[in-house]
Amino acid sequence: MGKKKNMKIIIQGQNRLSGTVRTAGAKNAALPELAAILLSKGEFHFQDVPEVEDIKVMYRALQNLGAEGHFNSNSVKIKIPEVTSELVPREIVETSRASILILGPLVARNGYARVCQPGGCPIGDRKINYHLDGLSRMGAEIKEEEHHLVAKAAKQLNAIDYTFPTKSVTGTENLLMAATLAEGTTILRNCALEPEVGDLVQLLTNMGADITGKNTETLTIKGQTSLQGTSHRIIPDRIEMGTYIMVGCLGENEIIVENAVPEFVQSLLNILEQIGCYVTVKNDTIKVTANGNLKPVSVETLPYPDYPTDLQAQLTTLLTQVNGISKIKENIFNNRFQHTRELKKMGAAIDVDGDIAIIRGKTPLSGQTIRATDLRASAALVMGGLIAEGETVMDNAYQLFRGYENMPLKLQQLGADIKNIEE
Ligand code: EPZ
Repeated sequence: MGKKKNMKIIIQGQNRLSGTVRTAGAKNAALPELAAILLSKGEFHFQDVPEVEDIKVMYRALQNLGAEGHFNSNSVKIKIPEVTSELVPREIVETSRASILILGPLVARNGYARVCQPGGCPIGDRKINYHLDGLSRMGAEIKEEEHHLVAKAAKQLNAIDYTFPTKSVTGTENLLMAATLAEGTTILRNCALEPEVGDLVQLLTNMGADITGKNTETLTIKGQTSLQGTSHRIIPDRIEMGTYIMVGCLGENEIIVENAVPEFVQSLLNILEQIGCYVTVKNDTIKVTANGNLKPVSVETLPYPDYPTDLQAQLTTLLTQVNGISKIKENIFNNRFQHTRELKKMGAAIDVDGDIAIIRGKTPLSGQTIRATDLRASAALVMGGLIAEGETVMDNAYQLFRGYENMPLKLQQLGADIKNIEE
């Protein structure tokens, strides 16, 4: 599905869903980890790589830079013994954050990188000032040239002691990767604690990087002159996990999520307990049974380990089915309530005022033609279609395939009447 065709998803709602769904590897771990191959000439073997569009975009971008390898059935074998181009062109990365994650490792390895301005979900300001400020303090000269970012470093990057003004996931990942080849010992403070950052630290350590402070807010990195290739299994995707857990809370559903890591979704499980969903955790499986009498909650999105912004849209849909008035405060992005407009077309009663959404439930939803505005909104709207009466048609369904592996198929296997068509 390389070219962005207009894809639609069509759902006949109100089927009861039951069965088992297996969590795929984490998109937001695989993205920086594929970029990390730029730090070495060695061979890499990644397993549990999710076959989603954002990862295919990163894979194509690396091929464009000179990487050789293959990507099939969740396995990627890849190496980049020589960088044959410093340019990551727009058509490859316009829809994802891939380009910004290439900038750091590429300029650290090569002393030169030219990437188009990063894309990604239109969920608010996707600032990159921390990335650019950190890299320039490390000695990279960064300029903007016709919609491209150009980074040049006349010599090896130097170590820095840098404190992130606010938590940034890819900001932490970018500077962490650059620091592994910098001269001296870098200290990064106020780092993001998301599990995907910890998984990247593990990969870099297995490549020979010297990093202390994994899963803490302070990372200390002793720069190396070179790093080796390695094998790595991607951690499970906590956002996909959380999405299917919330599907299990809808209607009369009963769903078992496998390959789960309960700790990664603890903030969600705490909320669902308050709402009154029946959730049973056993090792790496989480069983969810809907309960017709759900209670309203107030939630705010915050950096990990608190409630993730990437599960905000999906929770909004769930809260339309709760008797009472719920409230969500979105603290991370300033335009991440676009899904509420589409849910209101289906009959939801939601008022948005700035960074706060008030959801008045319980409202029956009816199938409509709606539009996916961003990746996580598209999952929230699919959830709406699953419980709506009648037929829901979701346009711009490409957004869903950016970050969810085979979602229509997985939902069909749970009993949903859902299909995707390409126009
Ligand atoms: C990562 O985006 C994730 N993407 C996002 O997931 C996720 O929503 C986000 O982290 C927050 O958890 C990937 O990991 C590929 P941030 P990122 O830098 O790194 C501000 C999904 O659905 N900020 O943590 O781009 C920024 O404006 C995607 O999978 C600066 O001000 O997010 C935002 O308000 C969507 N300056 C806040 O920090 C900077 O230099 C958090 O951004 C960087 C960020």
